[in-house]
Amino acid sequence: MTDEELRGIPRNEIAERGRYRCRLLVCHSSPCRIVGAEAVYEALVQTVRERRLDAVVEVSCIGCTAHCADGPLVKVCVPGRDDVIYELVTPELAIQILEKHVHGHDS
Ligand code: FES
Repeated sequence: MTDEELRGIPRNEIAERGRYRCRLLVCHSSPCRIVGAEAVYEALVQTVRERRLDAVVEVSCIGCTAHCADGPLVKVCVPGRDDVIYELVTPELAIQILEKHVHGHDS
């Protein structure tokens, strides 16, 4: 990889962020995985796919954000708003988080 390609990574990441109405980032470090992060991630991926939200919602994995005692953790990024971190997330709660941030309601 060239220096120019390396310098382009953050620019591409910033451009990528702007594509989505909402980004749901699930911690995939070991402490969160041990308490169920994989099930949370799978629930979000499946729901986004079923509801055909792929073009506006990104579900991705992140590393530890130092909330390890209260995992699984989901960080929500919406352009123009402060990031929100949810702790002790279950698959069911993850769906509610998705609905809250994408559709603007709790259900
Ligand atoms: S392991 Fe998930 S916040 Fe630290």
